[in-house]
Amino acid sequence: MTSSAPVTVTVTGAAGQIGYALLFRIAAGAMLGHDTPVALRLLELPSAVRAAEGVVMELEDLGSPNLEGIVFTDDANKAFAGVNWALLVGAFPRKQGMERKDLLSMNGKIFVGQGQAIAKNAAKDVRVVVVGNPCNTNCLVAQRNGKDVPAERWTALTRLDHNRAVAALAKKASVGNADITNVTIWGNHSNTQYPDFQHARIKGKPAGEIITDRAWLEGTFIPQVQNRGAAIIKARGVSSAMSAANATLDHVKSLLVPTPAGDWTSAAIVSNGEYGVQHGLVFGYPCRNEQGQYKPVNGLQLDAFGKSKFDLTHKELKEEYEAVKDLLPA
Ligand code: NAD
Ligand code: LMR
Repeated sequence: MTSSAPVTVTVTGAAGQIGYALLFRIAAGAMLGHDTPVALRLLELPSAVRAAEGVVMELEDLGSPNLEGIVFTDDANKAFAGVNWALLVGAFPRKQGMERKDLLSMNGKIFVGQGQAIAKNAAKDVRVVVVGNPCNTNCLVAQRNGKDVPAERWTALTRLDHNRAVAALAKKASVGNADITNVTIWGNHSNTQYPDFQHARIKGKPAGEIITDRAWLEGTFIPQVQNRGAAIIKARGVSSAMSAANATLDHVKSLLVPTPAGDWTSAAIVSNGEYGVQHGLVFGYPCRNEQGQYKPVNGLQLDAFGKSKFDLTHKELKEEYEAVKDLLPA
């Protein structure tokens, strides 16, 4: 352990499923490294305070050398005081038969107050990761209500979809997950997302040269990744938590660590119009971290099939934007 000042990480929804799978790993150094001390600030609803107290006890009982204090509160201003990393997990999950966008009316408003509280209280270098669904548009709501924080610091999670796509391609090609690169999740963390196999590579070769069954790529791979969340809800009765927590850590690490040469990862970021996307939408792109700057990869060409999928997810995000317009400041 170094003796540097701790990095403050705020996690909302601390008493929830993802909180339970995420917090102990952050406290044990799995997000920021074993040399980095962490101060945790946990935000919950007043109704979940008792359960969150139990989570705090368990975190203390880790005895983690990385952990330098835990603040638990139901007050967003306290929760985001001095925060360097704000992980916005707290929101209601969907139930079987729902789509994530059905949560917008319930969850969208959470991100008005949290966006404002982040802008008011966070450290100057704060970075925000929105996990609570529908995460792209919740992130848009938070970012627009927290405009004092530069737009490039707000991101939403498409990394779980990315990891699902990696695993599905590896399984089909009978290779290791590490052999899969250049996967992209375009657009929304929803069932319109476009998991792009066209640019994906397997052992450095175009995925389509290794998996020559285009019908599988179009008709099985894409819907499997798009609907994996729903399949998990059907099987478990509740939504993904272990893989979601893990993807959140992967997302943060990709923002911190330079991306290996030639590869990229997937994240939803505030669009500056790249690939013709409506300016300001929180859109899933292939992204690279170069010299600390996390930016979309430009210049990829989509074929007609890919373009039609891209347009569908773009259309859905434009519709979600219209649906939350009254939550956005003028
Ligand atoms: P959960 O119901 O187990 O926990 C959510 C917690 O958030 C609850 O404890 C609740 O009290 C708390 N909460 C609700 N509103 C809050 C607020 N305003 N401030 C602070 N806390 C609040 O749900 P979960 O399984 O942990 O999932 C959390 C969210 O993450 C859901 O919206 C879910 O759909 C989403 N999710 C996203 C991804 C992704 O890839 N983006 C993956 C999995 C789950
Ligand atoms: C997931 O992809 O597992 C999450 O977004 C939860 C859900 O509602 O599918």
